[in-house]
Amino acid sequence: MNKRHWIFGVTTFSALILILFSLNYAQSQGDRIQRGKYLVDTIGACGSCHTPRKGASLDMSMYLAGHPANESYPKYDFSMMQQGIFVLTSITMTAFSGPFGTSFAANLTPDKETGLGEWTEKMFIDTLRTGLHQGVQGNRKVFPPMPTKNYANMSDEDLKAIFAYLKSIKPINNEVPSALNSRGRPF
Ligand code: HEC
Repeated sequence: MNKRHWIFGVTTFSALILILFSLNYAQSQGDRIQRGKYLVDTIGACGSCHTPRKGASLDMSMYLAGHPANESYPKYDFSMMQQGIFVLTSITMTAFSGPFGTSFAANLTPDKETGLGEWTEKMFIDTLRTGLHQGVQGNRKVFPPMPTKNYANMSDEDLKAIFAYLKSIKPINNEVPSALNSRGRPF
């Protein structure tokens, strides 16, 4: 084997290894997205709060886009506590008012301005693990009824899969209002 053949052999071999690696990566990323879809649409049930309701079903044209920007929301009055009422919800089941204030289900689509488009995987995992807004220490808590306490115990791999799936869905531009405190003022 002369030198030219040898170089050719090494180059071809490296190229093959590279192709195999990238195919493997594309496949594992595809598997991860599939796993994320499974978690989001079945046991995670994210759409039960993050996709607005239209009558008895979910409005799939707003899949995971959060509380619609111009939709009204109910006001909580502390006297309701005596009547045993803790949470009121909008007709879309995406806005929730209680003694904590008002929370609006976030836009989980990858829209850059109004959704998770600018979120990093770390921010997402920190948010679900700590239950703090945007996963930042010192920020307010994420309000009910977002089940952060349950999601906090998911494995890293599952949280990564959910994030990969959310990044892959159709972006929808929908500016969800900021959460309100118990006096009805934005945080
Ligand atoms: C029972 C209702 C409910 C379910 C189910 C739910 N969420 Fe939420 N989520 C909310 C509400 C309400 C908010 C807004 C909370 C706030 O502003 O404090 C929210 C906020 C968020 C936020 C933004 C947190 C922040 O930093 O302010 C993310 C990210 C999120 N949810 C992801 C998910 C994912 C992923 C799932 C499914 C695995 C899910 N949610 C399921 C109700 C829900």
